Amino acid sequence: MTNMATAQQVSLIGLGAMGTALAKALLAGGHEVTVWNRTPARADALVADGAKVAASSAEAMAAADLVILCVLDDAAVREHVEPAATGLRGSTVVNLTTTTPEQARALGTWAAARGIDVLDGGIMAVPEMVGGPDAFVLYSGAAAAFERYRSVLELFGRAEYVGEDLGAAAMYDVSILGGMYAMFAAFEQGGAMVRSTGGSAARLAELMTPFLHAMATLLATQAPGIDTPADFVQVQSDEFTAAAIDLIDRAATESGTSTELYGVLRRTLTGL
Ligand SMILES: NC(=O)c1ccc[n+]([C@@H]2O[C@H](COP(=O)([O-])OP(=O)(O)OC[C@H]3O[C@@H](n4cnc5c(N)ncnc54)[C@H](OP(=O)(O)O)[C@@H]3O)[C@@H](O)[C@H]2O)c1
Repeated sequence: MTNMATAQQVSLIGLGAMGTALAKALLAGGHEVTVWNRTPARADALVADGAKVAASSAEAMAAADLVILCVLDDAAVREHVEPAATGLRGSTVVNLTTTTPEQARALGTWAAARGIDVLDGGIMAVPEMVGGPDAFVLYSGAAAAFERYRSVLELFGRAEYVGEDLGAAAMYDVSILGGMYAMFAAFEQGGAMVRSTGGSAARLAELMTPFLHAMATLLATQAPGIDTPADFVQVQSDEFTAAAIDLIDRAATESGTSTELYGVLRRTLTGL
């Protein structure tokens, strides 16, 4: 993947599990990478791979036109970006730290007033996946800045641009994670239910996994019901869905487990 012809200077702030994986991907891509981490020792291993280590976060941020942040949270981002504003003027900051949509917009407003471009990113991968075929990162903010650095950002995984609103990447990110947690909650509940009949969560996983894979392909067919509800002809009526969920709720009662989840599902999916 090395392409020295397009090598760029990139600075990366934050060398936790994720930041380290991002740094390795940048170095493997042939870029000149300056790193900084609050605990300096975490940079040591990257020096052998060719990274330069800055003495301060401000020094790192002044060293490149593309500055990537991957620290714990929004407070840590602001703590380091704000004092470095002068050195960042004219640069593009790509914030891969997980934040809320409002935090992303607020950083953008602060940066715009100081001549700094901001892209917000949501990493849909664990560190081990970075740079691999299943990793993707959501980006939002100025399309021109995204296109300018797209080839660098693609080193982390598929780069998915989701809109000009700086809050968009974070909103897609948390929505996708919400889908994941809903699935895990239903599995946890189902595991308890099948155990009441002598079954096991392991067997449920075996049976549920291919079914959910197939069901996931139906999400796209449901999208018009949310995007353009006036034109959408629902295949299953709300009454049908409510009755199906009521049946699950009743089976949960019979199993002696909680029915809390199904009330939430019924109200969310049917409004009934
Ligand atoms: N790990 C994942 O699977 C994953 C997936 C998607 C998104 N993310 C996001 O990526 C970001 C980093 O996650 P991570 O997994 O790398 O976490 P991590 O391993 O816990 O590392 C946290 C990083 O933040 C730094 N940090 C914390 N407070 C700081 C401060 N006040 N000033 C400067 N640096 C500070 C830490 O520095 P020290 O080394 O000095 O403690 C460390 O480099 C988070 O926003 C996370 O939500 C992670």
